[in-house]
Amino acid sequence: MIAGEMVVLRPFIGTDVAFFEQRTNDFAYHGEFNSFGLQPHGKLQSGFAHSGLLDPRQGMLVVVLRGTETIVGNVSYHQVGYGPNEGSQSYNIGIALDPEQRGKGYGVEAQRLLAAYLFATYPVMRIEASTDINNLAEQRALEKAGFTREGIARKAQWRAGQYHDLVTYSKLRGE
Ligand SMILES: CC(C)(COP(=O)(O)OP(=O)(O)OC[C@H]1O[C@@H](n2cnc3c(N)ncnc32)[C@H](O)[C@@H]1OP(=O)(O)O)[C@@H](O)C(=O)NCCC(=O)NCCS
Repeated sequence: MIAGEMVVLRPFIGTDVAFFEQRTNDFAYHGEFNSFGLQPHGKLQSGFAHSGLLDPRQGMLVVVLRGTETIVGNVSYHQVGYGPNEGSQSYNIGIALDPEQRGKGYGVEAQRLLAAYLFATYPVMRIEASTDINNLAEQRALEKAGFTREGIARKAQWRAGQYHDLVTYSKLRGE
């Protein structure tokens, strides 16, 4: 369990899988910047059966309100490589909060906690995140979580019928 002042990150348990599977194709839940067309049901279940959704290459944690079992969303990570050797691996992180739980500071804290967890658990130098150039809430949340804006990945993402520029952010070990 990874505890902040407001939220806690914890591994998935069986009932969480059903909770998030129900929201697989709920575009209102995922938001315009996190919707990539219809997704097959059962992906979470198979990932949970395989690794508990906690694997060094990729993983997902549930975000709950501290001291409760109220689920406010999830955070995720996956390994990205900048060379074939171990020292060139880093993690890219993502987040999705329930629409009713946004704007309360949970996104900042959850992403700060996830970065701290990854730095503590794996010998990486760099954690990165990218988001749509129009996703001002996520850009602000990443900056408040200690990430540095690096630049624009032009037309990197196909979503909702067009290509979108992404803003890239990173946080280095010790920052
Ligand atoms: C993006 C997201 C994770 C941010 O988390 P959050 O808990 O809502 O954000 P926080 O409450 O921590 O606030 C972050 C900052 O963004 C600001 N903000 C929120 N919405 C904003 C908007 N539409 N425009 C500009 N700033 C905004 C907040 O005011 C706050 O800054 P402040 O403290 O200086 O006032 C959350 O809104 C979310 O899950 N959105 C849908 C999924 C998504 O877009 N994920 C990222 C995809 S890459």
